[in-house]
Amino acid sequence: MANVVVVGAQWGDEGKGKIVDWLSERADVIARFQGGHNAGHTLVIDGKVYKLNALPSGVVRGGKLSVIGNGVVLDPWHLLGEIETIRAQGVEISPDVLMIAENTPLILPIHGELDRAREEAASKGTKIGTTGRGIGPAYEDKVGRRSVRVADLADEATLEARVDRALQHHDPLRRGLGIEPIDRDELLAKLRAIAPGILAYAAPVWKVLNEKRKAGKRILFEGAQGALLDIDFGTYPFVTSSNVIAGQAATGVGIGPGSIDYVLGIVKAYTTRVGEGPFPAELEDEDGQRLGERGHEFGTVTGRKRRCGWFDAVLVRQTCATSGMNGIAFTKLDVLDGFETLKICVAYDLDGERLEYLPTAADSQARCTPIYEEMPGWSQSTEGARSWADLPAEAIKYVRRVEELIDCPVALLSTSPEREDTILVTDPFAD
Ligand code: IMP
Repeated sequence: MANVVVVGAQWGDEGKGKIVDWLSERADVIARFQGGHNAGHTLVIDGKVYKLNALPSGVVRGGKLSVIGNGVVLDPWHLLGEIETIRAQGVEISPDVLMIAENTPLILPIHGELDRAREEAASKGTKIGTTGRGIGPAYEDKVGRRSVRVADLADEATLEARVDRALQHHDPLRRGLGIEPIDRDELLAKLRAIAPGILAYAAPVWKVLNEKRKAGKRILFEGAQGALLDIDFGTYPFVTSSNVIAGQAATGVGIGPGSIDYVLGIVKAYTTRVGEGPFPAELEDEDGQRLGERGHEFGTVTGRKRRCGWFDAVLVRQTCATSGMNGIAFTKLDVLDGFETLKICVAYDLDGERLEYLPTAADSQARCTPIYEEMPGWSQSTEGARSWADLPAEAIKYVRRVEELIDCPVALLSTSPEREDTILVTDPFAD
């Protein structure tokens, strides 16, 4: 297959970094198509740890083209800082290996300020638990047609006009939240300062990618967050502000939907969530604590403790459908080692009725209680397994049952953060 999309199939943090890195070795181009620096992708290569937020994971592999597509909202100050950090780790980053779509909207300091002020002012029940990085307000400005976009940095008159339009909208909002009015000159000076650094990477990404596609190059679309945080199909309003599902890969870079050959969902062997919102299979007991400790479940971006729960097959079956997953990469199976009994959520009980999907209405979601199926656990370690033969029979049964319940086959099984500790069933890039 020429072009592969990788999508988180739960609430993010499924272990996409390792899988994207594993696949990027086979790809020519790696493209981010949504989200921003709310993402935290950790890559471990030869024992060296790289932490990325805005940069596509392909940058740490030499000889690949990394692309930030128009579906992303970009904090230019953060990006330039991230480039410096990664450079200091010995990775070369130049316009030959990194491109930013000219029509990418920028995240400005005013977006982060608004995001954090709103969260602070929110009462219990309305707080989203955002990363505080301005993602929501930046997307609001995009659909409100008042973003400063990458291309605007090249022309002083356009830049000033865009900033004035933003001011007109934001100052009343800020006043309402008790934030000082925007200092126009300071904001413009900050934008002028980063303009050359950002414009060096600016390109008509849609054109470059369509040419690459025609030339038979392999494109890997790197999703951030997870499908349950999708603005349309997630647990609204406790979601991020972009479309996360696979269809976004096409609009997020400017390529036709027919160019997507394979969709790989990343699925963790249990469930986690950072931030507020419904989570039917959440465990607030010793088992939940054990999953969190063994799985090192702390947010990469915010450091917050992640909420943990049993594997929820209902939700993953749903995200496999909305993204059209062809296969999944199953991760962190080793975190389940040593549990005597494992539970899988196979349906919900809503007021005495059995439901096979998560209802859309927020009050119904909150009332759904999980219906579990129990399976025997295993005592042996699965960490670092590289073939099915290395896995205990109960672990294989667990994986097979998950495949059945979510109606999607396992293509890859990851058994540690190291890229070699992977069992390959189907190579998404294989023809
Ligand atoms: P925002 O994207 O910062 O607006 O946050 C909205 C919701 O998405 C919050 O619940 C965040 O915790 C969650 N979120 C955003 N990015 C990520 C991610 O990369 N992994 C997991 N959760 C995320």
